[in-house]
Amino acid sequence: MNNFEKILNKGLETHILSDEEIICLLAEQDMQKVQKLFDTANLIKLKNIGNKVSLRGLIEIGNVCRKNCYYCGIRRENHKTERFELSQNEILADAELAWKFKYGSIVLQGGEIQTEKHIAFIEDTVKKIKFLSRNELGITLSLGEQSLDTYKRWFAAGAHRYLLRIETSNPEIYSLLHPADHLFSERLQALYDLREAGFQLGSGIMFGFDGQSYSDMARDLLFLKKLDVDMVGMGPYSVHKDTPMGKKHSVQNDSEMLILGCKMIAVLRIIMPDINIASTTVLQALAPDGREKGLLAGANVIMPNVSEVRFRKAYQLYDNKPGTDENAVATRSALEQSLL
Ligand code: 5AD
Ligand code: SF4
Repeated sequence: MNNFEKILNKGLETHILSDEEIICLLAEQDMQKVQKLFDTANLIKLKNIGNKVSLRGLIEIGNVCRKNCYYCGIRRENHKTERFELSQNEILADAELAWKFKYGSIVLQGGEIQTEKHIAFIEDTVKKIKFLSRNELGITLSLGEQSLDTYKRWFAAGAHRYLLRIETSNPEIYSLLHPADHLFSERLQALYDLREAGFQLGSGIMFGFDGQSYSDMARDLLFLKKLDVDMVGMGPYSVHKDTPMGKKHSVQNDSEMLILGCKMIAVLRIIMPDINIASTTVLQALAPDGREKGLLAGANVIMPNVSEVRFRKAYQLYDNKPGTDENAVATRSALEQSLL
């Protein structure tokens, strides 16, 4: 047995891997071995979760954001982005559609807004979604950093999961990706506050950008394990040309990024055998069957977009986001086709 296979066997049996072992898995270029990594992760998923894909209806509620992350297309200072905010009735209509589609839960995703008006709006909207779905729809929020008090209000209203990516576990890299007033320490505190408020915690990272090493990525994966998150959404960085990072970044190779994305999912599945891991939209941007590849490498969650088409183009975190011109019914049938 070669070293690569020994590491996979250790992962399969113990779910414990060291930095060096993870680096060895991520750096492997021989596709036959890489396929074994994916198969091992998929096997672990089948054993611990079963052969099912959880669908969460994604509703992009608005793209107004107070933050200015260097990589993101909806950052505050991207004046080329047309801004939108869904009305409560629009969100409720999308939620109802997700409920009718029998999605077990929905994700309300949007930029970071900390005004009392917005906080109260979300609180009320969450209560109304619980009511209209007879308490059946689970609600995940992904609305950026907020105060502990806000998290408590949104949890009391009926949301039960929150997604907030740490982006990177390395404070130095964090400070390269963000302006000086976006603090790593505050992001970390937000994750602790979310847990204190009662939320099931989702987090994640972005990877594959210039200057980051396999060792950084290995540490990020081990950080997620240490944080003991319930759910992970993570994906490769993808250039948005109207951002400071996108303007400087080297050209990326889509198929390499997709393989890296799948390797990261696979290693995470090996070290966290029973958590929810999303196969994110960014994988689909890299190849038409990217999300399905993510599932075969150990992911178990897909978040089909249920937002109205007319707003999808504006929610552009990176260039060439897929599915911006199909409606929710088309998204669902495309998914059914690809998952059969
Ligand atoms: N490429 C990939 N992911 C991105 N995100 C934001 N901008 C990009 C980009 N250019 C991710 C971040 C953020 C989530 C909402 O989207 O990880 O947390
Ligand atoms: Fe706002 Fe999130 Fe984009 Fe940062 S990554 S600018 S917080 S939407």
